[in-house]
Amino acid sequence: MKKIAVVGGDGIGPEVTRVAVQLLEGLREKKGLPIELWELDLGADRYLRDGTTFPKEISDRIRAECAAVLLGAMGDPRVPGLEHARDILFGMRFGYDLYANVRPVKALSDRLVPLKGRAAKDVEMVVFRENTEGVYVGFGGQFKKGTPDEIGINEDVNTRKGVERIIRAAFDHAVKHGKKRVCMADKSNAMALAHELWLRTFKEVAATYPGIEARHVYVDALCLFMIQDPTQFDVIVTNNLFGDIVTDLGAALQGGLGMAASANIHASDPSRVAMFEPVHGSAPPLAGKDLANPFAALLSAGMLLTHLGHAGYEDLIERTIASALEQAQCTRDVGGDLGTRAAAAWVIERVLADA
Ligand code: NAD
Ligand code: IPM
Ligand code: MN
Repeated sequence: MKKIAVVGGDGIGPEVTRVAVQLLEGLREKKGLPIELWELDLGADRYLRDGTTFPKEISDRIRAECAAVLLGAMGDPRVPGLEHARDILFGMRFGYDLYANVRPVKALSDRLVPLKGRAAKDVEMVVFRENTEGVYVGFGGQFKKGTPDEIGINEDVNTRKGVERIIRAAFDHAVKHGKKRVCMADKSNAMALAHELWLRTFKEVAATYPGIEARHVYVDALCLFMIQDPTQFDVIVTNNLFGDIVTDLGAALQGGLGMAASANIHASDPSRVAMFEPVHGSAPPLAGKDLANPFAALLSAGMLLTHLGHAGYEDLIERTIASALEQAQCTRDVGGDLGTRAAAAWVIERVLADA
C-alpha cells in the first residue's frame, strides 16, 4: 500500500486538488490501485488559526510514511509575507531533497497554442528546473531596513553536486525517453562566477552522453527561441529561478497555467517521497468560484501515478483532457464554459470508463 499525502493549500488549491483526489480514488476503486490518501491541513487557514506552517512531526511522517505528496497551491493575500508558503513548499522541495522539478511543456490542443502558424505538435518539451539551490536558499539578509540606506541580498548558491545532478537528470531523461537534444540555459555571460560552474559542468556531463546533442543558450535568448520556434527543444535544464520563469512562459505555450503540471523528485532515487503539483499558484481572484481549470492538477496526478509505477494512466488522462479540449468540455480560460467540478467530472468519468 502506498500512502499519498494530500495538501490542498490555499486559494484554488483545495478545489483543483479535490478533483484530482476523486480521480485517484476512482482509479483505486475500479483498478484496485494500492494507494491510500492522507489529507493534511496545511496552508494559510491553519497558519492564521494556530501560527504553525509545516510542523516537524508532519514533515517527518511524510518522509517516513509517504510515497508521494499531491499539492494544490500555496499563497494567500491574508499572509502577505508568504512565510507559510515558503515553509511548506520549500520544506518539501529542500527538506526531501527533491532536486529535480520536472515541468513538461506540452500543448494538448492546437487551439491553445498562441503562436501564429503553430500547432500542438510543435510544443513538446520538458524543463528540468534545479529545485534545491540558487537564489531560493535564503542566504543573504536585510540591513538598515526601512531607512534610506537599506540593503536586501539574496545570494545565488550553486554547488558542483547540485548543478551536476540536475544536468545528469536531464540527460538521463532524454536517454530514457528517446529524446535527442538537451539545452542548458544560464546567464554565464553576466554571472560569470556562479554560472561558469554551470557551463563547465554541462560540457563535462554532456561529453558522457555522446548520443545526445548538447546545446548551451543564455536564458534571455531561451525565452526568445521558445516563442520563435518551440520545436527546437526537447529537454531544457536550468537553475531554480530561471526554471520558475521559463515554465510560466512555457505554460503560455500550453494554453495557460491551468494546463501546466509538475513533479518534484529526487531523480536518482525514485523510492524517496516525491511531490506533485500544478505549476500555477493559488489564483486568489478565482478562489471559491468554481472557475479554476482543474486540468493541471489532474495531469499532475497522472505524473504521480507514473512515478508510483502505475504506467498508462498518465497517457490516458492526457488523451482524455485532449478530447475534453477538442469538445470544449473545459473551463473558460481554455475556451469552454464549464466550472471546475463539471470539467473535471467529464474527464474523470471517461478516464474511469477507459481505464
Ligand atoms: P497564479 O498562478 O496563481 O495566477 C497567474 C494567472 O494564471 C492568473 O491570471 C490566474 O487567474 C491564472 N491561473 C492560474 N491557475 C489557474 C487555473 N487553474 N485556472 C485558470 N486560471 C489560472 O500566480 P500569481 O497570481 O502570481 O500568484 C498567486 C499566489 O500564488 C501568490 O501568493 C504566489 O506566491 C502563489 N504561487 C504559488 C505557487 C505554488 O504553490 N506552487 C505557484 C505560483 C504562485
Ligand atoms: C512555483 C512558484 C513558487 C516558486 C513560489 C510560490 C515560491 O512560483 O512553484 O512555480 O517560485 O518556486
Ligand atoms: Mn512559478
